[in-house]
Amino acid sequence: AAVEKGNYRHFMQKEIFEQPTVVAQTLGSYLRQSDNSVALPQFDFDISSIRRVTIVACGTSYYAGMVAKYWFEQFARVPVDIDVASEFRYRDPVLEDGGLSLFISQSGETADTLAALRHCKEQGQTIAAVVNVPTSSMAREADLLLPTHAGPEIGVASTKAFTCQLAVLAALAAHMAVTKGLMSREEEQEVVGHLLEAPACLNAALDHDDDIASMAHLIAPARDVLYLGRGPDYPMALEGALKLKEISYIHAEGYASGEMKHGPIALIDDDVPVIVLAPSGPLFEKTVSNMEEVRARGGQIVLISDAKGLEEAGEGCMATIEMPKVHPLIAPLVYAVPVQLLAYHVACVKGTDVDQPRNLAKSVTVE
Ligand code: G6P
Repeated sequence: AAVEKGNYRHFMQKEIFEQPTVVAQTLGSYLRQSDNSVALPQFDFDISSIRRVTIVACGTSYYAGMVAKYWFEQFARVPVDIDVASEFRYRDPVLEDGGLSLFISQSGETADTLAALRHCKEQGQTIAAVVNVPTSSMAREADLLLPTHAGPEIGVASTKAFTCQLAVLAALAAHMAVTKGLMSREEEQEVVGHLLEAPACLNAALDHDDDIASMAHLIAPARDVLYLGRGPDYPMALEGALKLKEISYIHAEGYASGEMKHGPIALIDDDVPVIVLAPSGPLFEKTVSNMEEVRARGGQIVLISDAKGLEEAGEGCMATIEMPKVHPLIAPLVYAVPVQLLAYHVACVKGTDVDQPRNLAKSVTVE
């Protein structure tokens, strides 16, 4: 049956708002709520013997992989190599025995990612695929299929498939840690508990839709926008910049907060809004000092943080967006919402074609 927009103006908007439901659905198929444990689909290789993970993807799916790199390293202490598919397939990558190659794709058909998957398969790697279209080529060719249950995604700019990818990847990283004996039963229960909080936190983030819509006019006139984040929120800054570029056609760059002084700081003046993704926590103070560097040069800051972070550093910002206080593990899922909504509302102010942005395709099946 054809997918309808219902009461929404655009598919993208509908898909942003579906996230609490589809993330819950996806988590439901990877987490056992009876005993708060991780339960992966059946497969016939020993996940505890994986010595290296190679992640390959494109676009938004690539940023999900970047977030997952932090998780695999943190929980499962396994080295992770990650690359965009178009580079990976032509650089003759070193693939050692005992490696897991992990492909992330909404469509399961992106030409470069599929070619990379086939290359790794020929090289004897174990192939896992996080895919949203269960009948796709990647889904069929993987040894371990890890489906996202986001449902059909129509908007060209990926939203709900992304947060579902993050949900699956977090479960996979935790499972790998458990099988390697690096995560105790108690820690597993804790991690699962935090993941299960994600849908409610996504809802709480969506509650700020009106605030974000009313500040979109501050960003819409900009020619350049900078996004900053640290740790797993650094890929979220990249994703925020990508979303804005894709649908509002404003030039945007994502940067690791601490790397800003090595280049983009030269761009900052009062015409360049700087969107800072900074949940309160151990790295918060560092990010605040990066914000000071921006402010000292007249930069206009939009701070996205929780109540504690906004209290500490919200003063003097051009605007703030309040997020619920969340466990660091689920922060990337939750902070996806404000960057999606911001891009969406800026695009609406500019009157662009949100669901079918110029020059872009939903699924890129040519090189
Ligand atoms: C296109 C889409 C993006 C998507 C990327 C990767 O560029 O416009 O939204 O992230 O392809 O697609 P995939 O289906 O492999 O996730």
